[in-house]
Amino acid sequence: EKGGYPHFMLKEIYEQPTAITNTVSPRIINGAPDFGIKALTDEILKSFKRIWIVACGTAMHAGMVGKSVIEQLARVPVEVDIASEFRYRKPILNPDDDLVIIISQSGETADTLAALRLAKEQGVHTLAVVNVVGSSIAREANSVIYTWAGPEIAVASTKAYTVQLSVMYLFAIKMASVKGLIDEKETAKLCDDLLALPAKIEEVLQNADNCKFVASKFQNAHDIFFIGRGLDYSLSLEGSLKLKEISYIHSDAYAAGELKHGTISLITTDMPVVAIATQSHLFEKMISNIKEVRTRGAKVLLICKKGTERQADLSEYVIEIPDYNEYFSPILTAVPLQMFAYYTSVLRGCDVDKPRNLAKSVTVE
Ligand code: M6R
Repeated sequence: EKGGYPHFMLKEIYEQPTAITNTVSPRIINGAPDFGIKALTDEILKSFKRIWIVACGTAMHAGMVGKSVIEQLARVPVEVDIASEFRYRKPILNPDDDLVIIISQSGETADTLAALRLAKEQGVHTLAVVNVVGSSIAREANSVIYTWAGPEIAVASTKAYTVQLSVMYLFAIKMASVKGLIDEKETAKLCDDLLALPAKIEEVLQNADNCKFVASKFQNAHDIFFIGRGLDYSLSLEGSLKLKEISYIHSDAYAAGELKHGTISLITTDMPVVAIATQSHLFEKMISNIKEVRTRGAKVLLICKKGTERQADLSEYVIEIPDYNEYFSPILTAVPLQMFAYYTSVLRGCDVDKPRNLAKSVTVE
């Protein structure tokens, strides 16, 4: 059932191109996103003045990317919340203006389900992005967009995350187009770029050996930092979660500009840093941050786009992702982060698919 792979996690990493194609292509009709949801007409979509994205763990990290891309393209303010925080903080919801998007792979996460119920009770439209058909969240939400990743068995979420990202992109493109912020041609171009991503992921998957090599260099670390800016900050959080979840190496993720506000004091020769720098407009700033940590002895793994101009000695290690529309880079960056975590876990002899103390579906609060 592992299809020849040693672990479900690796199988699921390699299933990502297909999972994204299955999720995205049925939703692009005549060059524009179409979710086929009767309750969410273009008029209704256009009327939302604020969006909340509520989820836990990796699904929440997908929501963070969702916030960036929806705000950038559709210019609607988005708040992202951890379900277990949202439900106890008396969120100020407005049934006339707000949309609540709930993201969950399993559709059964207790806090996420409770957050959905709270939003519904307050009369706000709830849209669930769910992988498991017929799950509680899918049944109770006002509208559903299914991610078609297929069953995800490994506790560490991989393909469910990248398909959640692809739905966030589709949604952002849809919102921007109904609001008239992008024309038909721009809409079709973005849809084409999204549809072409699976082929780019195939390219990234060919970097497995490099990811394994870097993992072998970092496998004995006690702590690892992940840093990034903008979209890459959200990916730092996800890369850090993936690594600590399955390898038991402590790691933390920081917005790179925050280092000098406290955490740079932790940088020593024993603190390797994974620096994600895929966004050209933030690259110079990232270079400064990388130099700051290297001066203090950190060994750096840089994840950047192919062809990025950089000094030869900027970092000890590099993993490149294809040079592609940067707006979509999270979907490409996620893959080497998953592989880095995977190989680190394997090299440390951990139980990759079933890390200690964790369950696939968190149905208790
Ligand atoms: O099933 P859900 O998407 O609601 O699960 C949410 C989290 O429990 C889940 O993403 C968790 O963080 C993963 N194990 C991370 O790899």
